[in-house]
Amino acid sequence: MTAQPTTEQTSVRPDRNLALELVRVTEAAALAAARLVGRGDKEAADQAAVDAMRAVLDSVSMDGVVVIGEGEKDEAPMLYNGEQIGDGSPPPVDVAVDPLEGTRLTALGMPSAIAVIALAERGTMFDPGPIVYMEKIAGGPEIADLLDLDRPLRDTLALIAERKEVDIRDVMVVMLDRERHHDAMREVREAGARVRLIMDGDVSAALLAVSENSPVDLLWGIGGTPEGVISAAAIKCIGGQLLGRLWPRKDEERTAAVEAGYDLDRVLDCDALVAGEDVFFSATGVTDGDVLEGVRYQGDRGATTESLVMRSRSGTVRRVSARHDRAKLRALSGVRYG
Ligand code: FBP
Repeated sequence: MTAQPTTEQTSVRPDRNLALELVRVTEAAALAAARLVGRGDKEAADQAAVDAMRAVLDSVSMDGVVVIGEGEKDEAPMLYNGEQIGDGSPPPVDVAVDPLEGTRLTALGMPSAIAVIALAERGTMFDPGPIVYMEKIAGGPEIADLLDLDRPLRDTLALIAERKEVDIRDVMVVMLDRERHHDAMREVREAGARVRLIMDGDVSAALLAVSENSPVDLLWGIGGTPEGVISAAAIKCIGGQLLGRLWPRKDEERTAAVEAGYDLDRVLDCDALVAGEDVFFSATGVTDGDVLEGVRYQGDRGATTESLVMRSRSGTVRRVSARHDRAKLRALSGVRYG
């Protein structure tokens, strides 16, 4: 008789979940930016988030390269595309950061600004190159197979209503409030469905669209390509789908992209945007939103944060509520935590 394998032989021990370290990175960025909520200065809020995120990133054991960052080196002194981050030890990873997603939301004290980071195996994140915008459509697992960037929006909305067994009047589409979306807004309304307009922050909106029991069924619209990659990383962890297609603003951008080898007709799904199978994601709320609570200051040195911390390989989605002692943190790290 052959011996049965023991539990020890058949199971693989859980390995390190980098997302649990990344949460400190987004918490630091959120705490720093939140001090500038409603102060009317989006550059200062962004800078505070970048400084705090950069400082804490150095403590993470990884060999990271920024693929989605604050821009090219000459315009971004920190977290620029191509910058090496982490302490240089394995694993080698691609890093996408948006220290403050929703700079204007923060400056105006409006909902749903977040600090966010995503990691995947080296060489697996889509590099948007010169293309600033992409068309996006995203929804939860129940409607993932219905997403299509070419089918008329009204037909997709009808299919969503049918799949969810609701009246089309119940279907809600979240869109950035932009002139370029006016035709689509009209189309959604004429189909009988509803539109939720947001001023900024389509990463939060994508998270909302794919979340369970969400008041929003679909994200649609043209938004930042970097935000598309970050949203895809989140969706690989939480479930659902996002389809994107590069959307050049003008002829020069189109020509530059084609010359650089980009296929502008290609529809990119989450696996094309982030091909890795071990994706880590962390986001911390800066201002209160549907997905995350913002930073709350308590007394003269306390603060609380809420974060979404996820890993694609294990499928674990954590909500981390943290209480911070800003004075102690500052003494420990030298980083200004708001
Ligand atoms: P920032 O807060 O980083 O400036 O970007 C916010 C944002 O609204 C993104 O969420 C979105 O993808 C992009 O800007 C849309 O770009 P634009 O404001 O040029 O339409």
